Amino acid sequence: MRGIFITFEGPDGAGKSTQIRNLAEYIDKKGLPYVLTREPGGTKISDAVRSILLDPDHGELENETEVLLYAASRAQHVREVIRPALAEGKIVLCDRFVDASIAYQGHGLGVSIEDVVRVNRFATGGLVPDRTYLIDIPPEVARERLLQRTDGTGKPLLDRIERKGLDYHRRVRAGFQAIYRENKQRILWIDGNQPEAVVFRDIVADFQKRFESVER
Ligand code: TMP
Repeated sequence: MRGIFITFEGPDGAGKSTQIRNLAEYIDKKGLPYVLTREPGGTKISDAVRSILLDPDHGELENETEVLLYAASRAQHVREVIRPALAEGKIVLCDRFVDASIAYQGHGLGVSIEDVVRVNRFATGGLVPDRTYLIDIPPEVARERLLQRTDGTGKPLLDRIERKGLDYHRRVRAGFQAIYRENKQRILWIDGNQPEAVVFRDIVADFQKRFESVER
């Protein structure tokens, strides 16, 4: 039996990490086998690549290098974690996947979408999520939220991508919206400007309808 591959996407600060944890807790309580993982990261090698990508000192990173590093992290993650878990019949909950590269590197940085898609098809071997929860939020609201995450001294904890300007984040958001319009069968769009409990209610309702009511 093949498992279920679910991804969470959305601009930084949309609240997706909280929601993916909430869904993991819900699935755990049901006693269903699952794996909770994230990109970039999820394996030793992918986590090492993550630290190169998010280091605020790496301002000189070229766009092409950035695309390839996200894809390299993903190639390892797919083969070491995601595919094996799916083969064991598990539910894989993944915080970001290929859509993030299309939105951030394609729409955000202006790298050819076709190239991003092609590189990622190679990296993933063509793996596509069964369902994607896209939590949307205007960049201005997201920025306010991100600035509230501070270190011990009150300084915001922004990584290399989060430090980019509002225009970049507006393009990323528009990118996610374009991806949604082209993949409405796979993606559920959720308004992240609603209370956390309401966002979670929508996600669980969808999960129950699509996956719990069907014999697997
Ligand atoms: P996270 O904040 O969701 O952990 O993701 C780390 C950052 O990396 C976030 O700003 C989004 C960005 N990112 C990309 O630019 N491309 C990608 O393919 C992925 C997976 C993440």
